[in-house]
Amino acid sequence: MITGKVTDEEIRLFAQLRPRHLSEVIGQRSIVENLAISVEAALEREEPLDHVLFHGPPGLGKTTLAHVIAVEMGRKIVATSGPALERPGDLMGILTNLEKGDVLFIDEIHRLPTVVEEFLYPAMEDFKIDFVLDKGPYARTVKFSLKPFTLVGATTRAGMLTGALRNRFGIFHHVDFYPDDDLTEIVERSARILEIAADHEGAKEIARRARGTPRIANRLLKRVRDYAQVKAGGCISRPVVDEALEMLGIDARGLDRLDRDFLGAIIDQYRGGPVGIQAICASLHEDADTLVDMVEPFLLKIAFIARTPRGRVATEPAYIHLGKPHSTEGQERLSI
Ligand SMILES: Nc1ncnc2c1ncn2[C@@H]1O[C@H](COP(=O)(O)OP(=O)(O)O)[C@@H](O)[C@H]1O
Ligand SMILES: [Mg+2]
Repeated sequence: MITGKVTDEEIRLFAQLRPRHLSEVIGQRSIVENLAISVEAALEREEPLDHVLFHGPPGLGKTTLAHVIAVEMGRKIVATSGPALERPGDLMGILTNLEKGDVLFIDEIHRLPTVVEEFLYPAMEDFKIDFVLDKGPYARTVKFSLKPFTLVGATTRAGMLTGALRNRFGIFHHVDFYPDDDLTEIVERSARILEIAADHEGAKEIARRARGTPRIANRLLKRVRDYAQVKAGGCISRPVVDEALEMLGIDARGLDRLDRDFLGAIIDQYRGGPVGIQAICASLHEDADTLVDMVEPFLLKIAFIARTPRGRVATEPAYIHLGKPHSTEGQERLSI
């Protein structure tokens, strides 16, 4: 599945595709310009950068930007994730080892357990932590001072963050889907780095079908390269992209089987909706996280679905795209 989770092989391969400096980041102009100013100001004052929160769908560059910040600040980065931090103790060692200005990156920060989140508040605010040793009657609190550091958090679900945590970030950036032109540039840059021959029209077509997402653009490039090598003498051109993506089940809008099944379930089984996400999950035998993080955001972006208080509805363009007669039977039923 082209929208699936990141594999280990991909981490190795894509490491070399990651922009390292702000100047190498393609697109996201407003984020890049704002970060450049924040970084320069912090460096001039010889202070760490304010805590930064990145919010947006998977594969758009949140982790990349966290690493870029550390490089631009000339500091080390320590990366962990919400689910990996089960107890305050897991964070304790990491925090006490940070030097002034270092970056602590917490991915999926919305999945931080409450006890760890609360432990983090004084660390973020005053660079101090209260650590409780032992339990019950022997419990005692030990106070530690930390060196001022920068927390960079990334989340696909800003809505799941508590206000208390969100408010402790001085800098907040929403990372949005990329326009095709930016993605074309990303595909051409990746092709150069990986020494893949691709002409402009080929790169453009990969970009157009990459669901606004650099990670998917890189994935498609890699798959199309294999196809080009075996079937087309190595060079990626527009017809080669069309053939390769057709074989992969990726349609003209860049939707894959799961996207189409998702739309199909709403339209065929729930008469166009509204339908709750849990019901769609049950129909597709998929977990809610995959659908909410990987499938829905892009379908909302291209307005193939809409969210209503009663659930998801399929819109007319989705019916047209799937070649189904448009009906709003489901919606009408509710208004009777
Ligand atoms: N602005 C960008 N310019 C070039 N490549 C990018 C950009 N943003 C992301 N990428 C590429 O996409 C891949 C996925 O980005 P990543 O930072 O891991 O996304 P996220 O953390 O938001 O899921 C990276 O390996 C990188 O190569
Ligand atoms: Mg990431």
